Amino acid sequence: MSKISDQDLIRLAMEAREHSYSPYSHFMVGAALLAKNGKVYQGCNIENAGYTPSNCAERTAFFKAVSEGVLEFETIAIVAGPKDGELIRTAPCGVCRQVMMEFCEYKTFRVLLAKSPEDYEEWTLEKLLPFGFGPKDLA
Ligand code: THU
Repeated sequence: MSKISDQDLIRLAMEAREHSYSPYSHFMVGAALLAKNGKVYQGCNIENAGYTPSNCAERTAFFKAVSEGVLEFETIAIVAGPKDGELIRTAPCGVCRQVMMEFCEYKTFRVLLAKSPEDYEEWTLEKLLPFGFGPKDLA
């Protein structure tokens, strides 16, 4: 199976963002996570009246994949912005970076921060989370 292009992965993140449940922040986020097996897991942010139980788009995508037994990942595309505004290049929160640290290769996992399929920055987990703590530290 040929792997999806960065542009198409960003389009899937944009599609996921349409499902954002964000009645409190009105900030809509979508993610599309490409697993090494070629499958893509989409996620959106899901807020809660209790605020603390809210979940970011990135973690929704990771937890969907992990709950289906998929544990190896290549790339995540992230798109975000206010409900009635334009997309803003948005970096993942610290908690989501730590979840990436659990499942992704430090130097090679790619994080695409996109405003559109044509306009995006590519980061690695290592650049986003320098001197991170992960499973290897407990080995
Ligand atoms: N949010 C994400 O889903 N991902 C990010 O990378 C940053 C923030 C969500 C959490 C909350 O629902 C809203 O955006 C405002 O913080």
